[in-house]
Formats: sequence, C-alpha cells, structure tokens
Amino acid sequence: MITVFGSTNLDQVGTVSRLPKPGETVAGGTFSMAAGGKGANQALAARRAGADVRHISAVGDDAFADLALELLKADGVDLSEVKTTPNPTGIAMIFVDTHGENVIAILPGANGTVSADQAEVALKSLSKGSVLLLQQEVPQAATVRALDLAKAQGVTSILNTAPFIETTKEVAPKAAILIANETEFELLTGRGIAELDAAMADWAKAHNQTVIVTLGADGAKGVTKDGEKIAVPAMKVKPVDTVGAGDTFCGYLAAGLDQGLNLETAMRRAVVAASLACLKAGAQPAIPYVAEVEAALA
Ligand code: RIB
Ligand code: NA
Repeated sequence: MITVFGSTNLDQVGTVSRLPKPGETVAGGTFSMAAGGKGANQALAARRAGADVRHISAVGDDAFADLALELLKADGVDLSEVKTTPNPTGIAMIFVDTHGENVIAILPGANGTVSADQAEVALKSLSKGSVLLLQQEVPQAATVRALDLAKAQGVTSILNTAPFIETTKEVAPKAAILIANETEFELLTGRGIAELDAAMADWAKAHNQTVIVTLGADGAKGVTKDGEKIAVPAMKVKPVDTVGAGDTFCGYLAAGLDQGLNLETAMRRAVVAASLACLKAGAQPAIPYVAEVEAALA
C-alpha cells in the first residue's frame, strides 16, 4: 500500500513553436488541459505500476477539480482523503515548445491549505512497512509532520525534492529515501555533477539515507544507506513532452519497493517508465501502465 501526500493540479498547457521571452508575445500554437500536480502524478504512476494507492491532497470546489481527479478516479486511486476547499483547484500554467522544452508556473490554490492537521488525521494509522511518498508542492509544515508520522509508525518515507524550495535542506534528511534530479541535488549539497558520485556517497553516509539522483537522458544513480552504489541507463527516446517524467519515476520507484523489488530493479523499471512518459503530451495522460514498461524492458 502506498500513500501519496501532496498536490493536485490542473495543468493548462500551451504548445508553442518557441517559448516566449519575458515581455514578449508569441502567437500560434495549441491549448490543452490535463490532470497534473506532482502528488497526483506520482499517485497515478504508482497505481499504473500496479500498487494500491491512496492520495491525500486538496482541491477546490470548482469544475477544475473533477478534471484534475478524473484519471486517478478512473484507475482506482483511493481519493477519500482528498479535501474539497473553498480555494480554487491548483493550476500549473505550462508552455511546451516543439523540442519538448518547457516553462511552468504553479498557482497552488487549494494545495496551500494542506496542513499538518490534515497529515495528522490522514496518516494516524499507516500500516507498518507501507510506503509514504511526498514532494514539495504543499506547505512544508504538512510535509514535515507527515515525515515524522511515517518514522514513528515504521513506514518507509520517500521524499522527492521537486520543486526545490528554500527549506528543502532542512526537511530532506527526515526521509528514508531521497529522490532528487541533478539540479536539485546540486542545490542541496552545493556540489556539481563532476563530483556527483562522491557527493552522493557522502550524503548517504552523513544522513543514513538512501539517495537517488535522476539524470534525464543519462538514467539514474543511487547510493543506499549502506553504501551500495547503483547506476541504471535510460531508454533512448526522442522526447515530445517531459512534463511528468520525474513524477513517473518517483511513482514507479515507490511501487517497485512496495512490491518487494530490490532497489536496482525498481530503479530500472522507473527509468524506463519515465522515458516512456516523455513520448506523449501531458503529465498524467502520458504515464505508462506496467505492461508497457515490462514490454520496453524485455
Ligand atoms: O512535475 C510535473 C507537474 O509539475 C505538472 O503536472 C504540474 O502540475 C506541476 O506541478
Ligand atoms: Na509527458
């Protein structure tokens, strides 16, 4: 059983020939809406990987909420702890260009109401040995409470450091497993890609934590809290839209561990799932099902 604690957004996506610069107007392109939000995306990815998933979050009392939750509902994610609030549903305004490059602004709305109290109520009885997956699109106080509750109950917590915020440094050591992309890991440690292996080994040792760094087209690396080193390659793809690829990795990784896979096998499957997620437009519509991932791995 996986519990995801985090955001739900409706993504408003403009596909344009090139990204506008500040102050510039670019005409042309197409508009679409898709379910998104890092928490919701990760919940759906874990579900499509075959896990039982509960999503704890907040949405607005508006028409966007239904669209934002549609795919989670269709695939059977437990939404009983998704609160409806008077604030608007979280929105991500996204532009994607023809190379798959994107810029994103997030307007948190209801996600900003997710509180330590909600964490307390929703997470008071987690089953020992289950997995709690978190990101950073809800207020940090709620994330901190959730991590503390996981620890107290013998639950494996996985924290994704996206999007990186000022307080990430303080909260990161609280999780059992940390997932960062290379930029986030550099912000966290102050050490660049040239020193990645050493920085990961030092971090894992200093915090007694398993750390995973995703490297885009270069796959992912991991160092367990016992110092074991893992590196897995990505699948070669020509990306159409990378939005949601990192979330797909996190959801699949969590599901793999929940299903008893070892870390390396879970990482291999997660990397391929993330590569496949780059081949379709939108965050949630692009998340592959486990059968597609197994076929690509074979
Ligand atoms: O990680 C991708 C997600 O980030 C998008 O779905 C968008 O909602 C933003 O939160
Ligand atoms: Na995508």
